[in-house]
Amino acid sequence: MKKIFILGLAMITMFGCQQNKQSTDVEMDRFVNELMSKMTLEEKIGQLNLPSSGDITTGQAKSSNIAEKIKAGQIGGLFNIKGVEKIKEVQRIAVEESRLQIPLIFAMDVIHGYETVFPIPLGLAATWDREAVEQAARISAVEASADGICWTFSPMVDVSRDPRWGRMSEGFGEDTYLGGEFAKAMVYGYQGRGQDAYKANNQIMACVKHYALYGASEAGRDYNTTDMSRIRMFNEYMYPYQAAVDAGVGSVMASFNEVDGVPATANKWLMTDVLRDQWGFDGFVVTDYTGIIEMVDHGIGDFETASIRALDADIDMDMVSEGFLLNLQKGIKEGKISEAQVDLACRRILEAKYKLGLFADPYKYCDVERAKSEIYTVEHKAVAREIASKSFVLLKNDKNTLPLNKKGTVAVVGPLANTRSNMPGTWSVAVDLDASKTLLEGIREVAGDKVRVTYAKGSHLTSDATYEKNATMFGKTLGREEEKRSDAQMLSEALSVARNADVIVAALGESAEMSGEASSRTELNIPDVQQTLLKELLKTGKPVVLVLFNGRALTLQWEADHVPAILDVWFGGTEAGLAIADVLFGDVSPSGKLPVTFPQNVGQIPLFYNHKTTGRPLAEGKWFEKFRSNYLDVSNDPLYPFGYGLSYTEFEYGDIKLSASEMTNESELTASVMVTNKGQFDGEEVVQLYLRDVVGTVTRPVQELKGFERISLKVGESKEVSFKVTPEMLKFYNYDLQYVNEPGDFKVMIGGNSKD
Ligand code: BGC
Repeated sequence: MKKIFILGLAMITMFGCQQNKQSTDVEMDRFVNELMSKMTLEEKIGQLNLPSSGDITTGQAKSSNIAEKIKAGQIGGLFNIKGVEKIKEVQRIAVEESRLQIPLIFAMDVIHGYETVFPIPLGLAATWDREAVEQAARISAVEASADGICWTFSPMVDVSRDPRWGRMSEGFGEDTYLGGEFAKAMVYGYQGRGQDAYKANNQIMACVKHYALYGASEAGRDYNTTDMSRIRMFNEYMYPYQAAVDAGVGSVMASFNEVDGVPATANKWLMTDVLRDQWGFDGFVVTDYTGIIEMVDHGIGDFETASIRALDADIDMDMVSEGFLLNLQKGIKEGKISEAQVDLACRRILEAKYKLGLFADPYKYCDVERAKSEIYTVEHKAVAREIASKSFVLLKNDKNTLPLNKKGTVAVVGPLANTRSNMPGTWSVAVDLDASKTLLEGIREVAGDKVRVTYAKGSHLTSDATYEKNATMFGKTLGREEEKRSDAQMLSEALSVARNADVIVAALGESAEMSGEASSRTELNIPDVQQTLLKELLKTGKPVVLVLFNGRALTLQWEADHVPAILDVWFGGTEAGLAIADVLFGDVSPSGKLPVTFPQNVGQIPLFYNHKTTGRPLAEGKWFEKFRSNYLDVSNDPLYPFGYGLSYTEFEYGDIKLSASEMTNESELTASVMVTNKGQFDGEEVVQLYLRDVVGTVTRPVQELKGFERISLKVGESKEVSFKVTPEMLKFYNYDLQYVNEPGDFKVMIGGNSKD
């Protein structure tokens, strides 16, 4: 750890009011003005309407209500239709059978891949690899656009420190900087950069969500209230949304929760003052699913009031509620809102369509030939396999249990060992659930002829034996076969398979639908029946490798104490089976790092690395002292800290060198460290930079991630890794919410995780 000192008072106000950016594209303005001059009020309101395609997916577009609404100009976009032929036909209705022939935008939740599925976003975050995350988004855009989609409801960037919340799986974890870096990477991957965005027919519009603070829902319960000070909001939660805006994101989704007592969908301060005036966002804002009508239950008024308040707050598009369609005309007549407000929202949607190139060619994303050759390709699958292998985090590896030898007998055991539908993970809406290889198949393929691979299921997923059969994800039945055998029968089979093996790979954890939307949990252990299986497997005395599937941080104290090796594989996507095998057999050395803190138990939650000290911190090395900030029954330490992850090799860090020990507000300095691969394997390491602002006018966290770099080192090789420390990196929001840096001492820490 080193200290630097920043000189000179430097109060830079970043909070000034910026004017809404007017479109500089004269052509676009002219086009939209002319089009809008022809539109009736009803048609303008129609552009703000985004229904879900439901009936259209069943192929009844022509006779459906939706088709009639399209013809009547009452729909601006549709979401979740799969298949370019279907989309093309619906677009045809819009551009041939509606009065003004305005094309529709077609959206989908392409969250971590289309048919080629990458790790869940939490797994992507565990790669700590900006290029990999951008590439995953790029390939997702290529595939989705080849199938007619031009708008994705991604990236999800909600900072989340509470693993009880199932949607932790959908975001980039607990850190604001890490989240911001990946928010940018994903926006670039989907849309392209700057002027290049949307140029090609494989660049689609991103939608950053859920704005704002959805990840801080009370008690980790989905859709629940959030409430926090503005100082925490701006220092710890807002940056990833802003980073997406800075990267040029085309749209923003309002969150379900309230912020400061007002649902985000009606929160004018959030949508107008912060998003547009302060951050300069010039795209459009869509509600979340039924976000408007849900405000009736939030208790802000009837359907009409909720619709009017949403428009008044600067919401442009209404997903599913049809509140705008049904209520705005009346609201205008009664003088509660103005036609100018509808015009503004309509203009923003038409501009998005213009930027996407849909007026020039409504079928830009409807090239049926592309769909045949650009989806789930060999090349895409190879990239997904490589990215997945980078996302796995080796939590423990006693006595070099891993990697496995490519000889002898490997018993693959567990309810997650031979299942396809569990591999891609939550929000894999476009995937063919039967396409993935199972872990067992992946192991057989990678292990080669010299390894005998045996298998037993060992237990149900949960103690409810019917669970697997009935499991659904987004209304889709997962098609898992009912397991008729009892846990006792399966256990006995598993033990005989295990006893005859040299090593046991236990594939356990959460099933895919146990995380994601509406999947909050209060216990975060591996389900009981699986834990029983694990304990029995350990009793055989054979080495056990726990391959852990999970969409959130879990509580693993028992496993950490007893199981020799634990590899956290999240949900690694369609190629996970092969990628896990690559790592198990040492073809790839694990290099993922935790994007979230793993607590010792649920009672410690929320537990995160960048906390404050309090006035009664624990003395260094102590775990309990009376009248200090701690618990009677457990230390304040996490089980596994943020940024943590082992490798098959060992990396040694030299001392930190600073190019200077003082800097001003006009200068910067460099912090460098030499990293050496001291072990027996080539490998990749994520070198992490943390800063601590020792004294502030408001209290500052004990450390904050400010940089990271993934490096590759051959056995014996050394590399110097340098990070710039700039005045910008020392800024924070002060008591008056001014974005400033303050003179004083700063500590610089560089290491392989947030603790070391
Ligand atoms: C989710 C969003 C998603 C939307 C559309 C909602 O329930 O909160 O993340 O984009 O549905 O599917």
